[in-house]
Amino acid sequence: DGLNARAVAAGKKYFGTEISTIVMADSSANAIAKNSQDFGQYTCENEMKFDALEPSRGTFSYTSADKIVAQAQANGQIMRCHNLVWHSQVPSWVTNGKFDNATLISIMKNHIANVVGHYKGKCYAWDVVNEALNEDGSYRTSGSIWGSTIGPAFIPIAFAAAAAADPTAKLYYNDYNCDKPGSKATGAQNLIKMVKQYGAPIHGFGMQGHMTAGQVGSASQYVTNMRAFANLGVEVAFTELDISTPSSSPNFAQQATDYATIVSACKQVSACVGITTWGFTDKYTWISNSYPLIWDTSLQKKAAYNAILNAW
Ligand code: XIL
Repeated sequence: DGLNARAVAAGKKYFGTEISTIVMADSSANAIAKNSQDFGQYTCENEMKFDALEPSRGTFSYTSADKIVAQAQANGQIMRCHNLVWHSQVPSWVTNGKFDNATLISIMKNHIANVVGHYKGKCYAWDVVNEALNEDGSYRTSGSIWGSTIGPAFIPIAFAAAAAADPTAKLYYNDYNCDKPGSKATGAQNLIKMVKQYGAPIHGFGMQGHMTAGQVGSASQYVTNMRAFANLGVEVAFTELDISTPSSSPNFAQQATDYATIVSACKQVSACVGITTWGFTDKYTWISNSYPLIWDTSLQKKAAYNAILNAW
């Protein structure tokens, strides 16, 4: 029994976690991550990002990411692979290279062909494009080398390149603040339609799900939102769920209720294939001064654990 076992019993593909080689080096934490009853899926925290995999032009560095994939395979856990094209964690040889449109497209396509080819058959899903939208639903240009140089056309070009390199991986668009209906969620729906209009495949929408305890609200708004995406013919998943509560005055009961709300929403929507949390222990979280996860800093289960278990 466990978080993943319950998700699978409810008809989902997985309950999973983000993991890093830092967590893997902590044997007590890693013992939790290796338990496939709780986690049926991994996402690399940073190890598959552009700067990690292609630190200099044409030189690929797979050692750290491969360690995570090997541990997943040894424990029968699937991979969500994250990510191919994002404005952040891009190496300076790309951002400072002053490449023209055609050259930058070829750099992007070459990166995708190499990386997706390296992991061909090993990724259940790829986050092909990450965070390409502004809050109002328009395409991000400011601060994005891809959006400012190539324009929104980089998006369908990236999906087509990923499909060519691994025809069986589910290809996702992934973003934050799109968990509830609103202008950014509508923008993501428009992005999905645009990719299809270009004739490129897109199979999934990832709701990152970085949330705050007490502000999660009711399940129905997430259900409504997921169904709007499902109506476009894509599956959906919560891909980076964490629910912040301040470490100075945490409210773990509220946090547990909020985790259960998201699980309940996913359970109600057949197109929701699974939930990934952005880490599992407050000992290792990207959010400072917060205790957003399911195991505490001493690696003990919090109230959220049983709340999630019982919500499936
Ligand atoms: C975060 C990592 O957790 C940090 O270690 C890193 O410094 C910055 O990126 N959206 C995403 C993830 O898609 O890749 C981000 O991960 C969190 C926000």
